[in-house]
Amino acid sequence: MANALPNVRILPTAAHALPLLMDELRGTQLRRGLLGLATGATFQPFLQALGEELRTGRMRAEELHATHLDEYLGFPPERQGGMVHELGTNCPPLLELLARGRFFPVPHDGEPAALKAHELRVHRAGGVQLQLLGIGRNGHVAFNEPGTPFESGFHVTTLAPTTREDARTRFAPGEPPTHAVTSGLQTVLGARKLVLCAFGKQKAKAVAAMLQGEITTACPASVLRRHTNVLVCLDKEAASELVGHHGA
Ligand code: GLP
Repeated sequence: MANALPNVRILPTAAHALPLLMDELRGTQLRRGLLGLATGATFQPFLQALGEELRTGRMRAEELHATHLDEYLGFPPERQGGMVHELGTNCPPLLELLARGRFFPVPHDGEPAALKAHELRVHRAGGVQLQLLGIGRNGHVAFNEPGTPFESGFHVTTLAPTTREDARTRFAPGEPPTHAVTSGLQTVLGARKLVLCAFGKQKAKAVAAMLQGEITTACPASVLRRHTNVLVCLDKEAASELVGHHGA
């Protein structure tokens, strides 16, 4: 596969990404397939804005099919701390889509048959047209931790220590989960367009490795350079370790 350089936008602040993301959303032919959502603080403003679009009818819920990247193992949609629960809290119309079978949750039990059925369901609905992505500070995308083979599909994974640490406040006073169900790197690369956002100094090293390091399983996000339609939105802090970039 050819390595096209991702389109990288370095923005003055994270807030500047919201209009770009809304433009990407409007420019996506969602009648053809799914919107692939991501969780995490990075996408909270976008999810809230999407919720407003759907609530006010500016965007028609009837035209939307959606899915997401990953779920903690054993976390059904109603369980607090889980990814679907987070998506529904930030964007309540997604819960209506879920009830109507138009939001496809990642099977939280991680059973191979359920994962296969989920992949098939996504495929039959037209595949993911626009996949939103964050990045972990260890370079993970979804929950594909360093060392995950690039050829992976949906699978159960053991969370890396930094990933569990970053999730600690979400589960306090309990312990963060040890395992999750995640879309694979090959699954992610199957989307028509990828938009990855990274904000803050804590992401800077992972961003530099993703964009300017070797394409290696040690930095799972580096494989995104094998996709030909990628937009990367960074704030200045997340871009600060890139060689040859000097801000917005
Ligand atoms: C989790 C998710 C990732 C997400 C990452 C970043 O690890 N599995 O998909 O990219 O969090 O989260 P945040 O946006 O909170 O930094």
